[in-house]
Amino acid sequence: MTKAILGVIGGSGVYDLPGMEEIREERIASPWGEPSDALRIGRLGRTTVVFLPRHGRGHRYAPSDINYRANIDVLKRAGVTDLVSISACGSFKQELPPGRFVLVDQFVDRTYKRESSFFGQGCVAHVSMAHPVGPRLQQRIAEAAAAEGIDVARGGTYLCMEGPQFSSLSESLSYKAAGYDVIGMTNMPEAKLAREAEITYATVAMVTDYDCWHPEHHAVEVSDIIAVAKANAGNAARLVARLARDFPAEREPCPAKSDRALDHAIMTAPAA
Ligand code: ADE
Repeated sequence: MTKAILGVIGGSGVYDLPGMEEIREERIASPWGEPSDALRIGRLGRTTVVFLPRHGRGHRYAPSDINYRANIDVLKRAGVTDLVSISACGSFKQELPPGRFVLVDQFVDRTYKRESSFFGQGCVAHVSMAHPVGPRLQQRIAEAAAAEGIDVARGGTYLCMEGPQFSSLSESLSYKAAGYDVIGMTNMPEAKLAREAEITYATVAMVTDYDCWHPEHHAVEVSDIIAVAKANAGNAARLVARLARDFPAEREPCPAKSDRALDHAIMTAPAA
């Protein structure tokens, strides 16, 4: 049996996880380079929680400059089995206003400047990304939100753009017309790498703005993201605290097989 350890990656405005006890900071070395920050390892209830601010404390790494491989690698080395990504995002839906949390279950990857696999160069693997979010982990997050009285939307597609510039109006309208729900700059390749590392992944997308498509709202600015993220960081912390409090002690099998993603993924023949 594998002990369940909950990882939390905090995005813009989420650089800390209040309520954690017995905290220690650990800098774990990775062959993939420098992660965004030291890991903060502690306890929420009975559950061990490992926190990593994706952009580093002080927001030092732009989305394209984050070493996603090192981040996922050090979380794996710390024993993380289940990973919750808390991520600011823009909304393409009137009914997903700033402040709403969206438990997305699909991603569209439009990034192009990032290392997005641990494999290649001698060991080729193709993991499934058909269902990138762990349904059971997402269900637990939804239950934690309900218990805390936090309104969440279930399901949705997160478009991951390269950035760092925001979208043009034409891009924003085309993403909206395509039916995507939210947009951000960071969940890819994070979700892909988590899958390759057999870590179950789920996103809490925190809507901070309407991007630039909405006729009654000005085009997104950094100040909007900071203000909404700050106002909702408390809700995010309560949600994670409740999730951790009610988390199982042992790792559960994932219906999307994220815990066994490599079972049938490796193409390269073993060395003779
Ligand atoms: N993060 C928060 N809001 C965003 C937006 N509108 N576009 C891309 N990333 C975002």
